[in-house]
Amino acid sequence: MEGIFDVIVEYPIIRKMEADTVKMEIAQLKDLSDCNVVIYFLGKDDITKLGVWEQRGFLEKLYRQKEKLCAEQEITTGFIDFQGNLVKVIVCGLGETASFSANILRKAAGNAVRYIDNTINNRVAVVAPMVSNNETLGAMVEGLMLGAYKFTECKSEKTAKNRLEYIFTVKVNDGEKIIAEAALLAENICWVRDLVNRPANIVNPSVMADAAQKIAKDLNIECEILGKKELVKKGMGAILAVGQGSIHEPKLITLKYSGAGAGSPYTAYVGKGITFDSGGISLKPAADMGEMKDDMTGAAVVLGAIKTIAELKLPVNIMAVASCAENMPSGSAIRPGDVVVSASGKTIEIVNTDAEGRMVLADAVWYACQQGAAKVIDIATLTGACIIALGNVTASIVGNDDMLCSDIIAAGKKAGESYWQLPSLPELKERLKGDTGDLLNCAGRPGDAITGGLFIGEFITNNIPWAHLDIGGTATMQKTDGFWIKGATGMGVATLVALARENK
Ligand code: BES
Ligand code: MN
Ligand code: ZN
Repeated sequence: MEGIFDVIVEYPIIRKMEADTVKMEIAQLKDLSDCNVVIYFLGKDDITKLGVWEQRGFLEKLYRQKEKLCAEQEITTGFIDFQGNLVKVIVCGLGETASFSANILRKAAGNAVRYIDNTINNRVAVVAPMVSNNETLGAMVEGLMLGAYKFTECKSEKTAKNRLEYIFTVKVNDGEKIIAEAALLAENICWVRDLVNRPANIVNPSVMADAAQKIAKDLNIECEILGKKELVKKGMGAILAVGQGSIHEPKLITLKYSGAGAGSPYTAYVGKGITFDSGGISLKPAADMGEMKDDMTGAAVVLGAIKTIAELKLPVNIMAVASCAENMPSGSAIRPGDVVVSASGKTIEIVNTDAEGRMVLADAVWYACQQGAAKVIDIATLTGACIIALGNVTASIVGNDDMLCSDIIAAGKKAGESYWQLPSLPELKERLKGDTGDLLNCAGRPGDAITGGLFIGEFITNNIPWAHLDIGGTATMQKTDGFWIKGATGMGVATLVALARENK
C-alpha cells in the first residue's frame, strides 16, 4: 500500500447481505407454524397444484380478489394468522406457464426477498410449484441472495445482525448440492459488487492485488503480481502509460487455476481494472464522474469468476488476468499525441487519454497469450458507446471467433445475463491505423464499442479464439430491479462460471 489516503480509511470487510447468516435447506413442512414468512412463487396455473398446508384455499380467495396475483413480477403481501402464529405472506407472480423461464424466477426471487421485513430472525418457507429441476432451483437461490444485497460498509451506523433461514419445499434430486453451488456463486457475485461499490479512495491497484493474493492463498492457486518495476522490465508500456499520472502504481495480476491438470490448455479471463477513470488529461466532465470508480469491474469480475470456479473445483484450467491502474491527470500523466510502446512491440498513438481501458487490456491480453492461453475472453467497462448502442441490460461482444461468441451468449442466457454480438468488420480496423504510431487508441466515437474492441484484438497472438465483452452499460445500475441492486451488478461472473461449467 502506498499514499497517505490508505492509512485513514479502513472498513471491515464482511459480507454485505441483508442477513449476516443465511441458511438454506430443503424440508417438508406440515403447516405454517414452523415459519414467520412464506413466499409463494406462483405461475398462472399454480394455485390449483397446492395442498392444504400451502394455503390453497386462502390463495384461491386472494386470486378472486386480485386477478393480477400471479402476473409476472406482481408482488402481493399481507399477513395471515395461523393458529395464533402471525405469518407474513409474500406472493410473487411468475406469469404464464408457457413463457416461464429460470430467469423470470431469478428476477422474481430478487424482487420478493426485499419484502421480507428486517427482523432479527426470519424463517422463510418457500413454495414454488414451478421449481422442479436444477436450473430453476439454482436460479431461485441466486435471486434470493443477490436481491438481498446491500452495500453499507461506508455508513457510520452499523445495522443489526440478522439471521435468515430458508426452507424450500421443493422436490429436486440432489437439491442440497444445487442450493450450495448457487449460493456460492451468489456470494461471490456479492464479493465482486463489494469491490466495485467501494470508492476509489479505498480501492486502488494494490488493493486489487491484495484481494487476488488472498484468493490465491485461500484456494492454494498460483498468483503473480507485476508492479511498476516488473512492468518496466517486461516493456509493458501501455499499462504503464495509463498509470503514470497516478500516485498509485499499476499492477498486472495473474491467477492460475488448474482444475484440468497441467497438460490441458488454459482459457484466459482478462479484466479491465481502472480503479478510477478521471479521463486523464482528456478529462471527463464533472457530472457523474464519481461513477468511474466502477471502471475496475472487469478485473473484479475475472477475480470473482476464478474464485468461484476454484471453489467449485471445476475440471478446467483458467487464468485470470486483472490489469489494474488509475487514470489520473497530473504533471506526469500521458498526453494526447504521445506514442507509447506496448509489450507486443506495437506502438500506440494516444488520441484521447480517456480511451485508457483498451491500453491496459492491450498489454494484458498479449501477456495472457504469452502465458500460453489457448483462448481469451476479455471483459471491460470499455465504452460509453456500448450504452448508446444497447442500453443498460445487455453487454456487447466483439470477437474473432463466432463460435466462442455464441457460446458466451448461450452461457449468459442460462446465467441470467444478456449479450449481443456486434459486427467486427475488417473495414473498421482501417480506422485504427496510426499517423505517427502503429495504432490509434481511439478511432472516434461512432462505433467505438466495435473499434475499441478491435483495438484489443490487435494484441491477440496467433489468432487464437478471442472475445471481448463490453459491460460499460451493465456494470452498475441506476435503480434496483430484480436481482440487480442499485450500484454494482457483478455482471459477467455468472456467465464466465457457466462457460467453465460447460468447459467452453
Ligand atoms: N470507462 C470509460 C467508458 C464508460 C463511460 C463506461 C461511461 C461506462 C460509462 C472509458 O474508459 C472511456 O472513457 N471511454 C471513452 C472512449 C472515447 C474517448 C473514445 C468513452 O466512451 O467516452
Ligand atoms: Mn476512460
Ligand atoms: Zn475507463
